[in-house]
Order: sequence, then structure tokens, then C-alpha cells
Amino acid sequence: MTTTTPPLTRIFSSDNTAGASPEIVEAVARAAAGPALPYGADDITAGVRRRLGEIFEREVDLLVVSTGSAANALSLAALTPPWGSVLCHRDSHVNNDECGAPEFYTGGAKLVPLGGRDAKIDPAELRAAVRHKAGDVHSVEPSVVSVTQATETGAVLTLDELGTLGAITGEAGLRLHMDGARFAGAVAALGRTPAELSWRAGVDLLSFGATKNGTMTADAIVVFDRSLTPELAFRAKRAGQLAAKTRFHAAQLDAYLTDGLWLRNAARANAMAARLTEGLKAIPDVGLLGATDANIVFCRLPEQVTQALLAEGYAFYHDRWEPGVVRFVTSFATRDADIDDLLGAVARHLAG
Ligand SMILES: Cc1ncc(COP(=O)(O)O)c(C=O)c1O
Repeated sequence: MTTTTPPLTRIFSSDNTAGASPEIVEAVARAAAGPALPYGADDITAGVRRRLGEIFEREVDLLVVSTGSAANALSLAALTPPWGSVLCHRDSHVNNDECGAPEFYTGGAKLVPLGGRDAKIDPAELRAAVRHKAGDVHSVEPSVVSVTQATETGAVLTLDELGTLGAITGEAGLRLHMDGARFAGAVAALGRTPAELSWRAGVDLLSFGATKNGTMTADAIVVFDRSLTPELAFRAKRAGQLAAKTRFHAAQLDAYLTDGLWLRNAARANAMAARLTEGLKAIPDVGLLGATDANIVFCRLPEQVTQALLAEGYAFYHDRWEPGVVRFVTSFATRDADIDDLLGAVARHLAG
């Protein structure tokens, strides 16, 4: 008797379930030939820093890390004292999904969750929070604002929205961190430059995600305020995030940034989410929730449809929000047919 494994094309739980782009795998193989200096002193890492400088239209520093959580926690640690606070959205990854790493790495800074639609911080709430008990030794000191681009619900902060949050942050003398686990998706969706969507809006440190969009194990911190680099370097080593063979992480990032692969991959993931959104809109009884600008789609499905999809081998998150709310995430590896099959299954189960 043979058992059947559900097709991997039915996995919509996260973009980190996708494989890696062939160009990236080949770059790792090439980097394996011969010796190289360790701990980031190799030529490939230097090349990635130069490439990022071109992409962001200014000189930047770079810390190569192996997870997005490390990028976020180390960045926040460099931007706030232990008695500071991190103002973030209540649905943000830093607030919900990092096992307290930001609190741990900052040495105890407090995360202050704020509201706002589509997981975007509400400007009025931010305006109040940046001044709340500032200078009062009995409270934590507002120190850094962390925004996510694209947001955890698949929306993107427009240039105006980012500009508003950046201005409130800067005018109050706070630092600005961006969780860019899906930064490529935002750049692809908005058609604005990486510079406009980061340091020109006041971002000091960017967690530059790549693992969800084509690399195997490599993310980065892009450092715009380069005075922070020495401290970040010590923090990264202390956190076990300075890989001896950094060249292999760097090779992934190098291929990722070459010839626009990062933006092509992100555009593909976004297009697949758009295809899914359009398809779901055409099916009665599916309630779409929030904006889908990037590669995450939230909707409401009747419980029996969710269960029938799961029984057929579809994988997606469905039990983390209010009952009936499900999340589908697409990636650079999603094919048109994968979306069409999913839409067909949703329609079939709704009809049945
Ligand atoms: C918004 C956001 N930030 C950061 C991360 C990084 O997570 P990890 O530490 O798993 O790479 C994720 C991954 O799901 C994410 O969705």
C-alpha cells in the first residue's frame, strides 16, 4: 500500500516554505571553491556592501545575519537603551513572534504596542506615544519606532504614510527601525526606490529580509547610521550571529541582489497574491480582509471549507485570529496553477 503526501504546491502557510532561487544555490557552490578570509572579511561580503550602496544610493554598512528575528533584535538593541521603549504595531512580528528576543537583546527595553489599520501604526497614536512620560524616570523612555514594510497583513506603507511616521519619529528625537522581512515586496509593489522607502524617510537601521524571497539562510541589517556599526558588530558576535564562513551567506545575498533577482522574485510573489485576491473576490461568501499589496492575503472562510481544504492537504494558518479568519501567503516559487487549484478547491468546497 502506498501513502500519498500532500503536494508541496498546496502550502500557503508562509513564504519561508519556498525553496531557493537556482542562481543563489549556484552562487553558494561557487563560493565553496578555495579559501577565503573568515568572519565577514572576505571579498564576497565586501561586494555585497558595495552592491547595497548602489541600490540604496549611498554608502551603507552591512551585518549579515541568519534570521530576520536576529536582524530585528540586534537593530533594536542598538537603537534603544535598556530603559527605553520600542513603539511598534500590536500585530508586529517584533511584538508577537520573536519570543521576547527584542526585550532580551535590548537588556529589558519595553515594547509598546500601538494600533492602526492593516498593521500600520496609526499616526495619532504614535504622536501621543513618542511624548508619553518622556523624561520621567518612573517610566520607560520612548526611544525607537519600529515599522514593518510590507506589513504583517500584506499591506504596504505608502511613501506618504512612511513619511508621516518618519517625521513624527524624527521630530520627537526618536530613532527609526524598519522590519523589512518583505522589503523587496514593498519596493516591487510601490515602484518607489529603496532609498525613498528607507533612509530618505528617516530609517536608521533596516532589517533587510531575503530568506522569504529566494535566499537559503541569509538576511542582513543595512546600516544607514554608520556610527552604529561598531556597536552592532560587537552585539552580533555576542549573539552568535557572526558566522566564521560568512562568505556563504554573502554569496546568497550577492546573487539575490544581482540583475534585480530580488525584485523579480518579489514581483512574482505579489502577482500570485493579486491573482488569488481577484479569484477570491469572484467567489461569493469569501470575505476578503484588509489590503493585499504584497504577498499575504487574509480572508474569511466558513469553518467547513477551512477543514475541507486542510483535509485535502492545503496548509495555511487559520487558528491565530478570530474564528473564520485564514491567511494565505504566496512566494516567488508559487505558480499560476497553484493559485488556480486553490481557488478551484475553495469554490468546490463552498458549493459542496
Ligand atoms: C514581518 C516579519 N519580520 C521578521 C520575520 C523574521 O523571522 P525569522 O526569524 O523566522 O527569519 C518574519 C518571518 O515570519 C516576519 O514575517
